[in-house]
Amino acid sequence: MLRTCVIGLGRIGNLHSDIYKSDPLAQLVGVCDRNAERAERAGNRLGVPYFTSVSEMLAALKPDVCSVTTGGFEYSSDHYEPTMQALAAGCHVLGEKPISNDLRCGEEMVAFARQKNLCYAINLNHRFTPAARTAKQWQNEGRLGALLFCNMALWIGRPEDLDSPYYHLKALNPHSIDIMRYYCGDVARVQCFAIKAPGRWMWSTASINMQFASGAVGHLTSSYDLKRAHNVERCEVTGVQGRFVIEDMWMRATLFPADSMIQQVYQNPVFGGFSNFDDTFRDRIHSFLQQLADGATPEQIDGPGAEGLAAQRVIHAAIESLETGRVVEI
Ligand SMILES: NC(=O)c1ccc[n+]([C@@H]2O[C@H](COP(=O)([O-])OP(=O)(O)OC[C@H]3O[C@@H](n4cnc5c(N)ncnc54)[C@H](O)[C@@H]3O)[C@@H](O)[C@H]2O)c1
Repeated sequence: MLRTCVIGLGRIGNLHSDIYKSDPLAQLVGVCDRNAERAERAGNRLGVPYFTSVSEMLAALKPDVCSVTTGGFEYSSDHYEPTMQALAAGCHVLGEKPISNDLRCGEEMVAFARQKNLCYAINLNHRFTPAARTAKQWQNEGRLGALLFCNMALWIGRPEDLDSPYYHLKALNPHSIDIMRYYCGDVARVQCFAIKAPGRWMWSTASINMQFASGAVGHLTSSYDLKRAHNVERCEVTGVQGRFVIEDMWMRATLFPADSMIQQVYQNPVFGGFSNFDDTFRDRIHSFLQQLADGATPEQIDGPGAEGLAAQRVIHAAIESLETGRVVEI
């Protein structure tokens, strides 16, 4: 049983806490928020000790695993400090995305975890679904062949302008870029166009072109501007032997073989399938716990800090392209 703590108790930290409480591999032993009211409310609700100081909680409870679910500027500036504290205390860490709004902080966290030989993972939960795994299996079986292109789209309604013109690019796109990297590998070159929807000052809809190191090409459309989206996330990956499309994140994955008119479909089942977005967190967190329980090395962890950082580098390159009008090499 892994002793777990959660640092940062907004909606997402409370969700991580609930999942640890219900996962047979974990025991939630404490929670922390520097906001005393949030800490007390969550501690009482969950029936565990609560703290307002990360260092006091780590010293008192000596957890094996910490979730860092803080937010901050661009929804990520607060991750660095508690992540470094938890790693220094010898904990494995599951951090929320984006890894950090500052690439240097991301690099330091990844390097420190490596130095301490600890597992540091990022909650890249969009790839932790049966549909995404089925598509990965098709790819591993050679059903796509050499990759040609990837079309990715993610759009949600987020009408309020937040703390930075880059908030949408930095906070939403770690998921999509991770999915693109998951199937297509490292990104070599990026070009970005974006608009600020009427009345907004934030870059709220973007069109990002990429070339992968393999030579394959990719495109991402991302938006905070759709009031009601019928299909939230769509991913299409095409190779010379076939193509798959994942629709609505976890709902359906379809394989279109190049040499046959017969398609193969994974459909989220009504009984025993995912029921809502929170199940992507449940799957991701259980996968991390299972890998730790199985004695995985830091290099074996699925969705590691290094991949969260790689996705963030693509975003920073896209922002540079947006500002300069140039294609940016990574
Ligand atoms: N994976 C996903 O699909 C997904 C979805 C939504 C949000 N998120 C991410 O989850 C994170 C949290 O989101 P939220 O909406 O719950 O944020 P939030 O701002 O509501 O909560 C963050 C909490 O962290 C606390 N905090 C910050 N620094 C702290 C520190 N050093 N010690 C103790 N407490 C500290 C704050 O007081 C705050 O209560 C963000 O990084 C966000 O990007 C991920």
